[in-house]
Amino acid sequence: MDLKNIFIVGAMGSGKSSIGKLFAQSCQKQFLDTDHEIENDSKLDITTIFEKYGEEEFRKKETKLLEELSGVENHVVATGGGIILKQENADIMKKMGMIVFLDIDLKTQIKRVKYRKHRPLLENTDLEKRLKILKSERDPIYNTIADYIIDVSRKDKKTVVEEIKNKLL
Ligand code: S3P
Repeated sequence: MDLKNIFIVGAMGSGKSSIGKLFAQSCQKQFLDTDHEIENDSKLDITTIFEKYGEEEFRKKETKLLEELSGVENHVVATGGGIILKQENADIMKKMGMIVFLDIDLKTQIKRVKYRKHRPLLENTDLEKRLKILKSERDPIYNTIADYIIDVSRKDKKTVVEEIKNKLL
């Protein structure tokens, strides 16, 4: 069995958690979600962490978590959209396994995140403008670090999972 880990990266609303979960189930890997792990460890939700301690502190928690995970094998790890902002995070993920980028177009992304709460970076802001800026800052990084890039904009989750499996396993 291939014991390598697979990290799912991409923008908010690209489906990292739901696709990651489905993918893990379908290939007998364990599933982990970095946002959930951070929430469990801190006993606070992401919004409260941002409010109380700020984004920088949240980013430190992401790095600490990845460092703690460094011994794990055979996991699918869904990550928060900004985890790639630190080069050291990308380095850790690369060392531990493969990185899959779920690429999504802006229109589809807006539809998906519109009514969702608990995303502090999207609160009290012009949604389209904000997502556009994040996209322009982050897509080049996702594209650079990914071992596999898949456009998820017009695909159902099962199709995405099958395509990732065909490519990576
Ligand atoms: C963030 C994305 C969120 C969460 C936090 C910051 C980001 O995760 O980690 O709100 O910087 O894009 P999702 O991508 O799972 O929504």
